[in-house]
Amino acid sequence: MQKTTIAEVKHYVEQDVKIGAWLANKRSSGKIQFLQLRDGTGFIQGVVVKSEVSEEAWERASSLTQESSLYIIGTVREDHRSPSGYELTVKDVEVIQLAHDYPITPKEHGIEFLMDHRHLWLRSSRQHAILKIRNEVIRATYEFFNNNGFTKVDPPILTGSSAEGTTDLFHTKYFDRDAYLSQSGQLYMEAAAMAFGKVFSFGPTFRAEKSKTRRHLIEFWMIEPEMAFTDHEESLVIQENYVSYIVQSVLKNCQMELKALDRDVSKLEAIQAPFPRISYDDAIQLLKDKGFDDIDWGDDFGAPHETAIAESFDKPVFITNYPTSIKAFYMKPDPNREEVVLCADLIAPEGYGEIIGGSQRIDDLSLLEERYKEHNLTDPAYEWYLELRRYGSVPHSGFGLGLERTVAWISGTEHVRETIPFPRLLNRLYP
Ligand code: 4AD
Ligand code: MG
Repeated sequence: MQKTTIAEVKHYVEQDVKIGAWLANKRSSGKIQFLQLRDGTGFIQGVVVKSEVSEEAWERASSLTQESSLYIIGTVREDHRSPSGYELTVKDVEVIQLAHDYPITPKEHGIEFLMDHRHLWLRSSRQHAILKIRNEVIRATYEFFNNNGFTKVDPPILTGSSAEGTTDLFHTKYFDRDAYLSQSGQLYMEAAAMAFGKVFSFGPTFRAEKSKTRRHLIEFWMIEPEMAFTDHEESLVIQENYVSYIVQSVLKNCQMELKALDRDVSKLEAIQAPFPRISYDDAIQLLKDKGFDDIDWGDDFGAPHETAIAESFDKPVFITNYPTSIKAFYMKPDPNREEVVLCADLIAPEGYGEIIGGSQRIDDLSLLEERYKEHNLTDPAYEWYLELRRYGSVPHSGFGLGLERTVAWISGTEHVRETIPFPRLLNRLYP
């Protein structure tokens, strides 16, 4: 008999198969038991009819409790009413382990309880769907950058300096010296771009931010492309093409997951490049028009501001050319207007906030040295970064996309904590 998985049953219609599975749920009507089975690849219903199986098989099926592990043996039937399109007519059940008192029952549980049981909660259909969408975003990311001439380069996690500012650095000992966990691989990716032209990274990122919002994780995953001979405008085109590509890939390859999450797919279908652009200046005016009286030129935007701006568009929107004073030291000033930089944040629709931060980088050695003085970057750990401007400096740009915020938006998940398998939050390091 063929041993297979739920995802593969479509190849075995009207044939007998054996599948390793867990019991998600069970209904019984005396003479028939309906087993809701999952195996990680999907969900399927197994139908056990008392008059059609041995007495022992019926008893074994009856003994199954929630999250018991088993092998199910049965005939694959096409069934148009079931979400997967297939059903199993059960012939036999081999119990592997009977589970007792599984903590997560079909009733409502509070979020802290579920988070404490994250190692088990991952098995539920909603969490499964969100993390399958995460997987598709990662797959489509590699596909997009590989198809477009990028080389993947891995920056270090342990670093001797800060990339995005010193206030939210994770400090650790590096033998008898000090080190920090990476806040961004960008500075290293700039070195890589000078060696490979177009590069991207995908790795863990650490921010010791005391933020407790639906958009903040302490440990998250970032995709950071960096491109030599590429100006800010050219970088925006790559960004909108990339984001469109991952959204369309999820629409194509995660139909079942989007359905399980009740995601309004018409909103996602509209996500096609090009995306609208609004300058920081115009965004300030837009906010004033919308009644935000307290915001002034030079202020950074908070979540309510971003949401209000995004509401005016049905696609992600680039907010460009922020004031130099509120952005990172490495951003290139606009040659026509020194007080703003060649940068953009990409704000997702529906209130999911900033998913990309990007900019053209300073390529002029003396200007970068000036910025080092202004920002007090005296640590020798920054020396090597200057050398990139000393030996064959070129115009270059790059950006960072936050994976969890992007997955939250695409999957329609309110809080980023459900978009990463084991979230690290201000008050959570367990499990
Ligand atoms: O805007 P950020 O800080 O940009 C950088 O780190 C640049 N060095 C990237 C680059 O140009 N290579 O972070 C980029 C993105 C944000 O837009 C957001 O999506 C995500 O990373 N992000 C977070 N996601 C979850 N939790 C946090 N605490 C995040 N902080 C940033
Ligand atoms: Mg940012």
